[in-house]
Amino acid sequence: MTTLTDWLAAQTVDAGLASVMQTMAAASAEIARVLRSAAITGETGLAGHTNVQGEAQKALDVISNDIVLSHIGENPEISILISEELDEAVQMQNQGRYLVATDPLDGSSNLDVNVTVGTIFSILDASKGLLQPGTAQLGAGYAAYGPATSLVLTFGPRAAAFTLDDTGTFQLTTAALSVPRASAEYAINTARERLWDAATRGYVAENVAGETGPAGKRYNMRWVGSMVADVHRILMRGGIFLYPLDSETSAKGGRLRLLYEGNPMALLVQAAGGRSTTGQQSVLDVVPTSIHQRVPVVLGSADEVARVEAWYGRT
Ligand code: AHG
Ligand code: MN
Ligand code: MN
Repeated sequence: MTTLTDWLAAQTVDAGLASVMQTMAAASAEIARVLRSAAITGETGLAGHTNVQGEAQKALDVISNDIVLSHIGENPEISILISEELDEAVQMQNQGRYLVATDPLDGSSNLDVNVTVGTIFSILDASKGLLQPGTAQLGAGYAAYGPATSLVLTFGPRAAAFTLDDTGTFQLTTAALSVPRASAEYAINTARERLWDAATRGYVAENVAGETGPAGKRYNMRWVGSMVADVHRILMRGGIFLYPLDSETSAKGGRLRLLYEGNPMALLVQAAGGRSTTGQQSVLDVVPTSIHQRVPVVLGSADEVARVEAWYGRT
């Protein structure tokens, strides 16, 4: 078996950058441990606070954020942390070269029902400022806390998946993920249909029409409600994930956050041969104007994303 440590040593990246991946892996392993027993230790439910985005923080959102913060504080290579749970970017004690942007716990609505949640992160050059487009990412990854804890990483050219073993070591389980070009599975919150734009409506209507419609094949719909779980499924077997701009989210620019949800997931999907779009451009080309900026996100199998792009082109 190849461990995460072996794999990182074999990559042609700066040792400091590799150590940032190790730090996020260690934080993820600790979060996995806490989640496993949270219902027993009573660390569930609401924390009683709202974050800067007006969302109710769960106790585990706050705990996960603290775990990431303490691991990052121990790595001299990291000087700045941006987190969904922290209003402002944090300047760490260390003067390191790297900036980490993270959603410490994604999928909060699934926390208390034992459905997969995750940690998402993006790594940037701290000297280039807080507001860099996704194309500037030096690496990205996520941990998915499901039946197994998976860690999926990229430095750009390819994405690799690791599984946490019983001894707390991440073992390489897929060396190069590949998102199939074609797929017949889509993920979108259909309860928002009345709010959708014409392109989203048009694309989903074709899928629902199945073999009797222009797509000429039958589709299935899957929506976990944790971006990590939905994107992990797509990285492993294909499909498309959509959280488009709709008449309710348009005032805020979208639902998902660019720096620590859209960008890292778009980089991973593109590293595995898939595509991403906001409807107007690649998610990775959006230049942020604030750290908690939201963005429309469509990503996954190249042929499906291209169909959505075609709909945006004609509406
Ligand atoms: P978070 O728990 O970090 O706030 O993120 C939740 C996100 C994402 O994980 C998921 O895809 C989406 O919100 C679910 O949205 P709906 O509640 O509209 O299903
Ligand atoms: Mn999230
Ligand atoms: Mn979150």
